[in-house]
Amino acid sequence: MNKVEELKPQILTRINEASSLQVLEDIRVSVLGKKGEITEMMKTLGSLPPEERKLAGQVLNEFKTEITTALDAKKTALEEAELNRRLATETIDVTLPIRPKQQGRVHPVSQVMEEMLTIFAQMGFDLAEGPDIEDDWHCFEALNFPPSHPARQMQATFFMENTDGNVLRTHTSPVQIRAMENQKPPIRIVAPGRTYRCDYDMTHTPMFHQIEGLVIDTETNMGHLKGVLADFMKKFFEVDDVPIRFRPSFFPFTEPSAEVDIGCSRKNGEFKIESGKGWMEVLGCGMVHPNVLKNCGLDPEVYQGFAFGFGVDRFAMLKYGIPDLRGFFDADMRWLKHYGFVPLDIPTITSGLSANGGAKR
Ligand code: PHE
Repeated sequence: MNKVEELKPQILTRINEASSLQVLEDIRVSVLGKKGEITEMMKTLGSLPPEERKLAGQVLNEFKTEITTALDAKKTALEEAELNRRLATETIDVTLPIRPKQQGRVHPVSQVMEEMLTIFAQMGFDLAEGPDIEDDWHCFEALNFPPSHPARQMQATFFMENTDGNVLRTHTSPVQIRAMENQKPPIRIVAPGRTYRCDYDMTHTPMFHQIEGLVIDTETNMGHLKGVLADFMKKFFEVDDVPIRFRPSFFPFTEPSAEVDIGCSRKNGEFKIESGKGWMEVLGCGMVHPNVLKNCGLDPEVYQGFAFGFGVDRFAMLKYGIPDLRGFFDADMRWLKHYGFVPLDIPTITSGLSANGGAKR
């Protein structure tokens, strides 16, 4: 049994130094397996004389128990180490932010457009669109501007050579014509879009945005026009009482025509809606001219209606106190950060048009 004394420290060292569960298993097989060192020694017991056999059996059993205990302990230690390793490497860092910090901003024109369309949609208007490049018929002629009529001068048109008479539309009014040509009354549409005029200063840029409104029915009058615009102003500026006045004006496509002013004051560049201080012109409107109805195949004896058109950019400047129109189109990130809106603040009638965006900015 000297062999036991010789083997024991060797085996214990091997167990101790086992670097993985697999290595440990190999050791177990080589010691306790069918042909393992201890198993082989057990097999020799039979050939010993009975007294020796008893003693040797006892020694071998103790040896076996000691090795099994050492194997079990090492196995537990290796398993624990493996678990700790996995816990350390397979962690999920729950402290990461769910969403990266918001960088982008919604441009005030997009925001204000959205606010306006929300209001008109609630009033029952449909959305209509037309092309930026228009032909002479839709941009002028059908709108009752005869060729060489001086009223065409009002529009500061970009006339270009070799365009077959096509122009960059100077207003969204051609969408009125397209709507009347393509659908049957009753018509209730608003048409937002880009418009182009040869103009550039603090309140004019060569490209700007308009929204056109058109209502055609059998009994439509100026009172309806006034009601729609008064309601719109209140909702848009989020003020209960917006003073508005209609001033007689001229557009070839409406008769009578009017320009609409809102009552306001301006102190230190700050714009405030109030009566008795001053007026600011904000839009053009009128009853659709009978010639325009005829040009679109509608009988003026049966149908009439009103139209209005206004600058979206101008309304954005007024509502959000933006002093210079040119900044709108400079693509300056600092400007956008300051005047832009948080993308998830979507204007709705129920949660408030600018309750979040406007106040938080
Ligand atoms: N198209 C006109 C403009 O751009 C506005 C307008 C629209 C006036 C509809 C009357 C009716 O100034």
